[in-house]
Amino acid sequence: QLLEPHAQDLAGKHVVISAGGTREFLDPVRFLGNRSSGRQGYALAEAAVARGARVTVVSANVSLPDPAGADLVRVVSTEELRQQVHQAAVDADAVIMAAAPADFRPAEFVDAKIKKASDGVAPEIQLVENPDILAELVAARTSKRPVIVGFAAETGDANASVIEHARAKLARKGCDLLVVNDVGAGKVFGAEDNEAVLLGADGTVDEVPLGPKIHLAHAVLDAVVQRMD
Ligand code: CTP
Ligand code: CA
Repeated sequence: QLLEPHAQDLAGKHVVISAGGTREFLDPVRFLGNRSSGRQGYALAEAAVARGARVTVVSANVSLPDPAGADLVRVVSTEELRQQVHQAAVDADAVIMAAAPADFRPAEFVDAKIKKASDGVAPEIQLVENPDILAELVAARTSKRPVIVGFAAETGDANASVIEHARAKLARKGCDLLVVNDVGAGKVFGAEDNEAVLLGADGTVDEVPLGPKIHLAHAVLDAVVQRMD
């Protein structure tokens, strides 16, 4: 495969990308997690490196080869992801939240492995909500910098279509761009290919057809570059 030459339109820019899915441990051996593979985040890192950016990847539980040419920071939980993303975002020109942070964590971590009760009664797990990193990034921003991108995996339901849910989420989060995946058909997770709709806070709607995740990555970066100045 020939390497396509890319415009160095991210030269001198610092791009922070979160990738993967966080884990919230209940005890030393068990966690709540999700199916995010990190592939789309790593494809974004590869694309941003190719376009000349300095890239920091905050990577949560990804089992893929390290992205070449990027600084890699490994985290496990949403709280760790939060701290590392905020630290990296200090001088960032763009922050792309491709990671799937667990929305909830167990209210307490138990130091010793939880044992089955002899009476056969299932334990109940209390959950508490995790902070919303994307919303915090938006709230902390005092100028147009950094450009902030969110991802959303949505399904249509009785109340609203995928795009309606996504528009509402974009408004709620306050980020500049939302990359929307329709996961209704149950694909996307771990897949090589991806399709998406890029919704801009400025009202733009761009459909990116099904193709390799690297193509979607470049489409997202095109939209990011347009929003930098
Ligand atoms: N996100 C985040 N911090 C969280 C949860 C989500 O920064 N605690 C980011 C994700 O990385 C993603 C975007 O917010 O870029 C949207 O994530 P999503 O899970 O779709 O949003 P939620 O507000 O958690 O909505 P839902 O109830 O649909 O899970
Ligand atoms: Ca969520």
